[in-house]
Amino acid sequence: MSDDKPLRQSREQQTADISEAQIAVHWQEEDYFAPPAKFIAQANLTDAGIFERFSLDKFPECYREFADLLEWYKRWDKTLDTGNAPFWRWFVGGKLNACSNCVDRHLAKHKNKAAIHFVPEPEQEAVQHITYQELFVRVNEFAALLRDFCGLKTGDRVTLHMPMVAELPITMLACARLGVIHSQVFSGFSGKACADRAVDSESRVLITMDAYYRAGKLLDHKEKADIAVAEAATDGHRIDKVLVWQRYPGKYSSPTKLVEGRDVIINDLLRKYRGKRVEPVPMPAEAALFLMYTSGTTGKPKGCQHSIGGYLAYVTWTSKYIQDIHPEDVYWCMADIGWITGHSYIVYGPLSLGASSVIYEGVPTHPDAGRSWRIAEDLDVNIFHTSPTAIRALRRAGPDEPAKYNHHFKHMTTVGEPIEPAVWKWYFTEVGKGEAVIVDTWWQTENGGFLCSTVPAIHKMKPGSAGPGIPGIHPVIYDDEGKELPAGSGKAGNICIRNPWPGIFQTIWKDPDRFVAQYYARYCKNPKSKDWRDWPYLAGDGAVQAADGYYRILGRIDDVINVAGHRLGTKEIESAALLVAEVAEAAVVPVADEIKGKVPDLYVSLKPGLNASKELANKISAAVVSAIGAIARPREVVIVPDMPKTRSGKIMRRVLAAISSHQDPGDVSTLANPEVVDKIRELVK
Ligand code: WTA
Repeated sequence: MSDDKPLRQSREQQTADISEAQIAVHWQEEDYFAPPAKFIAQANLTDAGIFERFSLDKFPECYREFADLLEWYKRWDKTLDTGNAPFWRWFVGGKLNACSNCVDRHLAKHKNKAAIHFVPEPEQEAVQHITYQELFVRVNEFAALLRDFCGLKTGDRVTLHMPMVAELPITMLACARLGVIHSQVFSGFSGKACADRAVDSESRVLITMDAYYRAGKLLDHKEKADIAVAEAATDGHRIDKVLVWQRYPGKYSSPTKLVEGRDVIINDLLRKYRGKRVEPVPMPAEAALFLMYTSGTTGKPKGCQHSIGGYLAYVTWTSKYIQDIHPEDVYWCMADIGWITGHSYIVYGPLSLGASSVIYEGVPTHPDAGRSWRIAEDLDVNIFHTSPTAIRALRRAGPDEPAKYNHHFKHMTTVGEPIEPAVWKWYFTEVGKGEAVIVDTWWQTENGGFLCSTVPAIHKMKPGSAGPGIPGIHPVIYDDEGKELPAGSGKAGNICIRNPWPGIFQTIWKDPDRFVAQYYARYCKNPKSKDWRDWPYLAGDGAVQAADGYYRILGRIDDVINVAGHRLGTKEIESAALLVAEVAEAAVVPVADEIKGKVPDLYVSLKPGLNASKELANKISAAVVSAIGAIARPREVVIVPDMPKTRSGKIMRRVLAAISSHQDPGDVSTLANPEVVDKIRELVK
């Protein structure tokens, strides 16, 4: 970083945002649940001495244990290089390949074992069981195609816009084999959102699929690729090739035409590469494996860059010891591979361990509330991983449904949002039948893998609390002045991690200043320091630590809304609304939702002389969906005569949030236009 300007800007900006986390928290302490004895008897990690081995004075060498789970062409010379703090470099000098670690190294003993069980949404369609040998063949052939047909080479970026199908990990692993950086965009995102990410990462190749099933419908997905290419072109970026997988090999399932000279059907072209093998490229540990875009405080999503060595070591260790994956387990993580959870805990972690990982194409409650439990029963899944939103939806759709099926989980995960104790208990009693241990894992796209969680065979569970830092992770809660809030203080503050860890992202793609400003500036003790102790990582969540050391995560301290466990920037939604010609101002606020946790309400004011109408509200809502995707669709678009504003002209989002939640907006007499508050309240009623 050239000077400390981003540091200063960021302090001001963040101080204004954190008031929510300052509020003292009162909640009822829940009783502990002990991990089942049967689980403990078989667990990978039962030695409580682990925390001693990973204490701060053993840092960073303790993390060798993580990297030792991988196969290296060349071992590293230096475990952690802090010379360019806070751009940490892990396992420097080491060489490895992520694809060969997830595929090739399992062939000697497990070539005939299922690597992936692909479960199509239509229930009459057969499950595809892809062995490690088959995965090896398909990854090699596709890597040959990427190299020889597309001319892709080490360090190039490729944008993927793929649904939940086996071809998605095949594509990711083929990229990894070549040292090509993949950037998978969630399939539910719009063509425009895909374009923004392709432009930022300068991808010349877009890989997609013709169609996929969602809630009983075969959706046309290829049409989004056409939009993505056109939108990228308006940004001055050319996508040369669009590679299209077929949902049904040999049959094109999209009504959208192929574009001559640009679009290629992968399944046709692959015939040319039959039997081809591609040597995995030995890559430096600190080279990038992938980019994952996520929402932040500005309108533009940021590309989190994850490394090969540190990331893979981190997800492999946490999959083995926190997910407790054994070679004989069948593991099902219900997340979408388009998010970080899917990258780490459907693809890289489980496959690196040689496990069998389930990929389900569609909606967990389709065609009925029993579907998920039938999948679990049929495949004899014994490790299950999902989000509070999915648990709430499954519970609402069929509270008594799990009891009707003969599935047995030993281990269940919840991730992505705070889970209400009542929902946790349903998960434990009904889904887990009281037999499964639960881990509530707190972490973020930026982190690569879990930060806080109980170690399943060591700690007791406490509904609604994630738990302590996992071995090697040393969290701390700071108040706004930078004072540490001790365990049991009852005060909420900003949760940070004292030390770097191998899974932490390396930087924001093409934006190193923002990387420093957003994650490290706030509590940095000395911006010139090369000592990691001076650079606590700011997660951006409010949290409180109970006397027993368990952390309870309260939610974001910035302008990010967690909708159904997915991060959306309020600024992203506002920017999309402002693209509608009639809109003068836009403000997004979060509203509590029974299933999704939070949903966005969008308030807009119009340019002078224009009138509100239902049609206009619909048009604005549609604009948001086309800019971002259906997950960003506002619950309500409220067209207001004027925004509530301070005298300095700042929109008071807090007042709008109170109105949306039917709460008292408090004293509004200091606003520049207090009379507008009642008018807006009328509109929302
Ligand atoms: C929230 C998902 C409470 C948190 C892996 C975080 C959680 C954001 C939990 C990251 C949890 C994640 N309890 N809140 N167990 N896990 N969060 O980047 O606000 O999609 O900052 O990564 O989700 O979301 P992201």
